[in-house]
Amino acid sequence: MSHADDASGTRRDFLYYATAGTGAVAAGAAVWPLINQMNPSADVQALSSIRVDISALEPGSQITVKWLGKPVFIRRRTEEEIKAARETPLADLPDANARNANIAEGADASDQNRSLDEAGEWLVQMGVCTHLGCVPLGDGAGDFGGWFCPCHGSHYDTAGRIRRGPAPENLPIPPVAFIDDTTIELG
Ligand code: FES
Repeated sequence: MSHADDASGTRRDFLYYATAGTGAVAAGAAVWPLINQMNPSADVQALSSIRVDISALEPGSQITVKWLGKPVFIRRRTEEEIKAARETPLADLPDANARNANIAEGADASDQNRSLDEAGEWLVQMGVCTHLGCVPLGDGAGDFGGWFCPCHGSHYDTAGRIRRGPAPENLPIPPVAFIDDTTIELG
């Protein structure tokens, strides 16, 4: 257990509100300074659970929030993005695992197993490339209309699944749930 983990023990239930307007990093921020990932400050480490107001997000937009020192992408997808993700045959996916902390380990990587709501409008995933940890570009970047990691050319689709390039796994989905119509909780 790291020193930071020790320190966070008594502050587990501390909740932090981030809204689309404040506390969020602008959509499409290209490079999250590596130093930020390697040395999250003590106050960030303590925030094991955060709530995010998503009411300001329009379809086709996303915000990035910081959770446990790492960026998390929260995207409200368009009909087209959902359709593209749901029509992709599982056989086309290099990583067949949903990588979703909220469902059974080993579940398949169907879009239904990755999106937060049944209709598939909301996708919440870690903004950390599974190759070497860069922060992928969003808002329809890459050859599959999802995210693109420029570090070594990994293309993720509209469900955050790796489709081409050196990244071995889909972008992981953290523990996340709706707590009301316009608020989600991470952690
Ligand atoms: S870190 Fe993303 S492709 Fe290498």
